[in-house]
Amino acid sequence: MNFTFNTPPEIVFKSGATRALGEVVKRRFQRPILLTDKGLVDAGLVAPALTSLKSAGHDVLLFDDVAADPPAAKVKQAVAAAREHNADGVIGLGGGSSMDTAKVVAVLLNSNQTLEEIYGVDQVKAARLPLVLCPSTSGTGSEVTSISVITTEEDTKVAVVDNALYPDLAVLDPELTFGLPRHVTAATGIDAMVHAIEAYTNIHRKNPVSDALAREALRLLSANIVTACEHPGDRPAREAMLLGAMLAGQAFANSPVGAVHGMAYPLGGIFHVPHGLSNSLMLEPVLKFNAPNADHQYAELCDCIGAAAVGSNAEKCDAFIKRIVDIVEATGVERRLAQLGISHNDLPRMAEDAMKGQRVLQNNPRTVTYEDALQMYTDVL
Ligand SMILES: NC(=O)c1ccc[n+]([C@@H]2O[C@H](COP(=O)([O-])OP(=O)(O)OC[C@H]3O[C@@H](n4cnc5c(N)ncnc54)[C@H](O)[C@@H]3O)[C@@H](O)[C@H]2O)c1
Ligand SMILES: [Fe+2]
Repeated sequence: MNFTFNTPPEIVFKSGATRALGEVVKRRFQRPILLTDKGLVDAGLVAPALTSLKSAGHDVLLFDDVAADPPAAKVKQAVAAAREHNADGVIGLGGGSSMDTAKVVAVLLNSNQTLEEIYGVDQVKAARLPLVLCPSTSGTGSEVTSISVITTEEDTKVAVVDNALYPDLAVLDPELTFGLPRHVTAATGIDAMVHAIEAYTNIHRKNPVSDALAREALRLLSANIVTACEHPGDRPAREAMLLGAMLAGQAFANSPVGAVHGMAYPLGGIFHVPHGLSNSLMLEPVLKFNAPNADHQYAELCDCIGAAAVGSNAEKCDAFIKRIVDIVEATGVERRLAQLGISHNDLPRMAEDAMKGQRVLQNNPRTVTYEDALQMYTDVL
């Protein structure tokens, strides 16, 4: 056995933690920039955190212009705003888009490197500024990963992957998620389930710590996602979802995702389909495609998701896929590409773009060719 496991040094999980953010972050910085988006501000989730930071003596700059699937240009604007403020620390409060922007801003502020120079794996040269991340969706797990996903000027999704992107502190406040709209709860929750499944089937970096985290994440997420959709104020369900998404994040940060994400990236890059939704659309076809090579692993995961399964690996694998599909359907998310305005003519370009995602495709239990990708897109059109 041979593996390395990394995670942030400190995690605070506490209801109301962001309302007391000034105390929770302690004296990590004096002039932080807080990065978020307008949706979070409108939902009233940012003001209490700002008030708390100011009461604790921080001269905090609010940047509430983060865009979904953060475009490179927007990230550069945030860096410029932070420089102007002479920021000495970075807080990301929001979904994956806000946290991913915060990670890269914390790196670039202290560095002579450009954004383009840090694309890829282990390209960060200088130490970053202090970084605190507070998730408001139960999805990406970005608060505990070393990854930031950026959309380039060419509409391609690229990743910055470097241990410098683990924050100093992750603050998980389940109360932030009570007001998450149903479709966001559903899509981001399915994204988290995909993180757990794909961490478990990674062919290069699967490891026992990620496996244990992935199993517990799947147990929590599968048992609570429909309740969280139907009863948004259900505290135990919201807590379980936030915890499950974080555990899945820790799992895949150390055993990265595969073809569901690889096939989903073109939907986000070209058509701006939200990340969670694009993953949920590609989940069923990729599970079926992977089944010949991953049936024993899917069979092992049956008990985590409450799939009644007996018999051979193939039978348990079928039960696993059926139960996952039932959960996805119960959340009410879109199930067809055509529902998002994608047509038959778009599929070849999508399959070409998917092939550029070898960073994740190489982790998948079955090799995906251009023809395979085209077939899977056709299956869910
Ligand atoms: N870094 C990683 O490890 C990692 C992993 C997976 C995905 N990602 C990236 O994360 C991004 C997606 O993040 P996401 O799915 O969390 O969505 P998001 O950050 O794009 O937010 C989606 C929407 O939900 C709203 N929202 C968020 N929290 C809310 C709340 N509590 N109440 C009301 N509205 C709220 C936002 O305003 C926004 O409109 C993509 O760019 C994806 O590529 C990163
Ligand atoms: Fe994801």
